[in-house]
Amino acid sequence: MSRLQLTVIGAGQVGATTAHLLALKSLGDVTLIDIVEGLAQGKALDLSQSAPMEGFHSAVRGTTDFDALAGSQLIVVTAGLARKPGMSRDDLLAANANIIGPLADRIAKHAPQAIVIVVTNPLDVMVALMLHRTGFPRERVMGMAGVLDSARLRTFLAQRLQVAPTEIEAMVLGSHGDLMVPIISSITVKGRPILGQIPDTELEQIVQRTKDGGAEVVTLLKTGSAFYAPASSVVRMATAILQNQHAVLPVCAALQGEYGLWDVCLGVPVQLGAAGIERIVELPLTPQERTALAHSAAQVGDMIKSLSTIAARPRTPATST
Ligand code: LAC
Repeated sequence: MSRLQLTVIGAGQVGATTAHLLALKSLGDVTLIDIVEGLAQGKALDLSQSAPMEGFHSAVRGTTDFDALAGSQLIVVTAGLARKPGMSRDDLLAANANIIGPLADRIAKHAPQAIVIVVTNPLDVMVALMLHRTGFPRERVMGMAGVLDSARLRTFLAQRLQVAPTEIEAMVLGSHGDLMVPIISSITVKGRPILGQIPDTELEQIVQRTKDGGAEVVTLLKTGSAFYAPASSVVRMATAILQNQHAVLPVCAALQGEYGLWDVCLGVPVQLGAAGIERIVELPLTPQERTALAHSAAQVGDMIKSLSTIAARPRTPATST
């Protein structure tokens, strides 16, 4: 039986680290594509030479040729510019839309059956653009952000409470930006609700640090943005899909009425399996959380409308079933 074909577009830090993790976990053969001559080839060559020590069986190759997308079952899109200190993710809108639009056309042409995970910022708008330009059903186009934002929140809480991060369950929904919506009411530590376990003011500080989590790393690095945790977050989603786990993770998905929201891409709990998005899970939210989610959706909706390269609304997707 042939191995799954996985493609990562963009051989920068997030893309290369994603390729590394996909190979380490032997999730499939990995193709790394980048327009910069030699970059994807060099990283893929280096990465493939770690196989004897790591014992993985994935073939890893690098190329500048987008024809290599053919036959991909899963495509991770990391291409685009990363933030510099002082920039918001939204500052990247026009530049990255001009990269993602044509990329979407290539994906639709060469890999019309693929599932696509977008990582490029501003995330929610880039997912909408990918969905619109590929014309893929919404089950097969999604964005990585909620897993990362939730991981940051879980990490900070674990450090504060001196427990393993895996003991903390938390979901951060909404847009990948200042208006992300941590669902405080559903955070648990070893199965017990967080509320009352640490003072509210400390919880608020941790939530704010989560919202600023990407910027904190950008400021420290001075050049480039976070990549280890983003890559792990992508691979968590990829594993759920490739192993048909039916796992519920916070994922940027196109909403068609869920949470009372239409025609916007936003982070919500999603059940991921072999078909991609199997179902959008509607959590019970407090009125404040619902309002915050609507606020987040309105901001993303405005940004989608401001993009001249796509129609005012994402195309109503056909369903794949
Ligand atoms: C971050 C980038 C991936 O949050 O948006 O670090």
